Amino acid sequence: MNLKEELEQLRKSAAIDLDDVTDPKSLEAVRVKYVGRNGALTAALDKLREVPKEEKPVVGKLSNEIKTWLAGELEALQAKLGAQARGAGQHVDITLPGRRPHVGKLHPLTQIAERIVTIFRRLGFAVADGPDIETEYYNFDALNTPAHHPSRDTQDTFYLDPESLAGPRRRLLRTQTSPVQIRFMETYKPPVRIIAPGRCYRRDNPDATHSATFHQVEGLYVDRNVSVADLKSTLDHFAKELLGPDVRTRFRPHFFPFTEPSFEMDFAFPGGAAKGKEWLEILGCGMVNPKVFEAVGYDPEAYTGYAFGMGIERLAMIMYGIDDIRLFYENDVRFLGQF
Ligand code: DAH
Repeated sequence: MNLKEELEQLRKSAAIDLDDVTDPKSLEAVRVKYVGRNGALTAALDKLREVPKEEKPVVGKLSNEIKTWLAGELEALQAKLGAQARGAGQHVDITLPGRRPHVGKLHPLTQIAERIVTIFRRLGFAVADGPDIETEYYNFDALNTPAHHPSRDTQDTFYLDPESLAGPRRRLLRTQTSPVQIRFMETYKPPVRIIAPGRCYRRDNPDATHSATFHQVEGLYVDRNVSVADLKSTLDHFAKELLGPDVRTRFRPHFFPFTEPSFEMDFAFPGGAAKGKEWLEILGCGMVNPKVFEAVGYDPEAYTGYAFGMGIERLAMIMYGIDDIRLFYENDVRFLGQF
């Protein structure tokens, strides 16, 4: 084999070896094999001196071509492998600040409802619920709310059935969680201790303090010899559990069709006035009206009980200092992320 043939051979085998390069180590092996001090190409170039004069221009040109080609290939491969290594994350800037993972949270209304439920569960109350689509009977009649009562007006309540079907079975979106009381007492005998969080609906025009959908928590306690003192002490305990030992509470006489006597309970929040007022109305309550017991088949001579209901949005707005109820429903993480 003359030098020209040898050089052609070298080019072919180098091309094959270059094809097999996958990492810096195999690249270095190819470099050493051909252009290292004892490399094949180095050795071939050494033999150039022995080539007969007339062949020199051709063989010399060929050897130069191969030398330049191989150097170019080796450089290109080196650059490619370096770029891959950086892309694979081996090139890390450890001075960059880390990325915080986004942590999910419960909605603030869910958080408050859960806190309320937890406080009453510790007192032995069980969680109950009922349907959002109710009937006139459960939402009004059984709760001693007469047909002409203003809250039954189509201006205030979302009815699903037309006026022509007015009567106990006409469907509506519940305006309060109180119908859960009726459904529970229809199903279970006393004693009863339930807490029922849920969504309610009223035909209010949405503004900063009104929403067509909102949430309440209902409570009901029925047994022998239940008194106003039980109601008062239980709700006072609840207020202190929720807001701390410094909260103060007071009862004001009020009217609800399903309780007699009825009260509103005000809280004076610890740490001073909220919204510039010392006392804020937080919940409605009272002793279960005997007419309600009659509707569910409980003996009003044998049993007494108390009930209460409160709006979760209102409580959340006071506790968190939120001035627009609509923020709860917009699902803006810049708002929700604060709780
Ligand atoms: N359902 C009443 C409302 O929506 C709140 C309420 C008041 C519930 C007194 C009760 C209660 O259980 O005893 O305004």
